[in-house]
Amino acid sequence: MTTTMTRIGLVGLGAMGSRIAGRLLQGYEVYGTNRSASKASELLARGMTWRGTPRAVAASAEVIFSMVTDDAALEAITSGPDGILAGLGPGQVFVDMSTVSPQASRELARSARSLGASMLDAPVSGTVTAAEEGILTIMVGGPHDAFHAVEPLLHVLGRTVTYVGGNGQGLLLKLALNISLAAQMLAFSEGVLLAERGGIDPKLAADVMTASALGSPMLRARAPLVLDLPEQAWFDVRLMHKDIRLVLDAARELSVPVPSAAVADGLLARAEELGYARRDIAAMFQVLARTAGTPAGTPAGTPGPTSGPARPGALAPRSGGTAP
Ligand SMILES: NC(=O)c1ccc[n+]([C@@H]2O[C@H](COP(=O)([O-])OP(=O)(O)OC[C@H]3O[C@@H](n4cnc5c(N)ncnc54)[C@H](OP(=O)(O)O)[C@@H]3O)[C@@H](O)[C@H]2O)c1
Repeated sequence: MTTTMTRIGLVGLGAMGSRIAGRLLQGYEVYGTNRSASKASELLARGMTWRGTPRAVAASAEVIFSMVTDDAALEAITSGPDGILAGLGPGQVFVDMSTVSPQASRELARSARSLGASMLDAPVSGTVTAAEEGILTIMVGGPHDAFHAVEPLLHVLGRTVTYVGGNGQGLLLKLALNISLAAQMLAFSEGVLLAERGGIDPKLAADVMTASALGSPMLRARAPLVLDLPEQAWFDVRLMHKDIRLVLDAARELSVPVPSAAVADGLLARAEELGYARRDIAAMFQVLARTAGTPAGTPAGTPGPTSGPARPGALAPRSGGTAP
């Protein structure tokens, strides 16, 4: 599969964007920019061409990728005199890979269309290592002809590239998928903590669980992080919480009950309160441990691991409960 589009733009060189740029540099001319210019230095040394604004990136490329945090960041890089839209023209394809609200993405797609360009939402599943290796799962929404034009580029970045439907549908599927990411991480953390507090070696518990039928590739990869939380996050609590809030918004709009997302929302809010916003989502285990009470059998007066009392369901959903 090949494409005639060889000049590629990239706006947003954070944890994921920088890896995506790195892969595209292996076969294409890449023009990039980032709010914090310092993050570009390694990519510049590898051949990327710097542009001072998102508008200048768009004006230099046939296909423009973006990978930024959230709706506010997407608005910041696309609007105004220096934004992507100001540099976009007929025939170009703008591919946003950020996890943002489907609604915001659809509105942006309308603006791109009014300029004669096309927009695709192409959010990804898989973390920084998958981005580096080009084995992301990519879900795409938008005009099918635009998808067809950029599909070879998406295969440089992802092992599974799926056209889902019209604008916003890639994002909706990504949000649906991420309910399981939060729920699996939470249920696994609960199980390991329960075993540990009952006197079972947590490593043994984690090994048995991940070797069982429940051991998804995600849990197998993250189990070591649960037992020894790294300083550097693969996917942090702040981003997971942003995704879960987007899930709750989408579920409300579509009148779908999402009880596990509602519980995850409460736990992630607690994690942020406890200072884990920039730590990997494997921190859920520590949040539960700090919320748990003194283990059974501990002599009276022995200080427990946390200040709070043991209370099953202490991190139950916040306002709104289980219904959207
Ligand atoms: N990390 C993962 O494992 C993972 C996996 C799947 C999907 N995602 C999704 O991918 C997206 C990016 O995640 P990431 O891990 O790459 O995050 P990140 O490392 O925090 O990078 C965020 C990027 O957004 C830019 N940005 C944020 N606010 C901005 C603003 N107001 N104006 C201009 N630029 C702004 C940042 O610029 P600065 O460098 O100047 O801050 C940076 O380039 C998110 O939507 C996330 O949910 C992440």
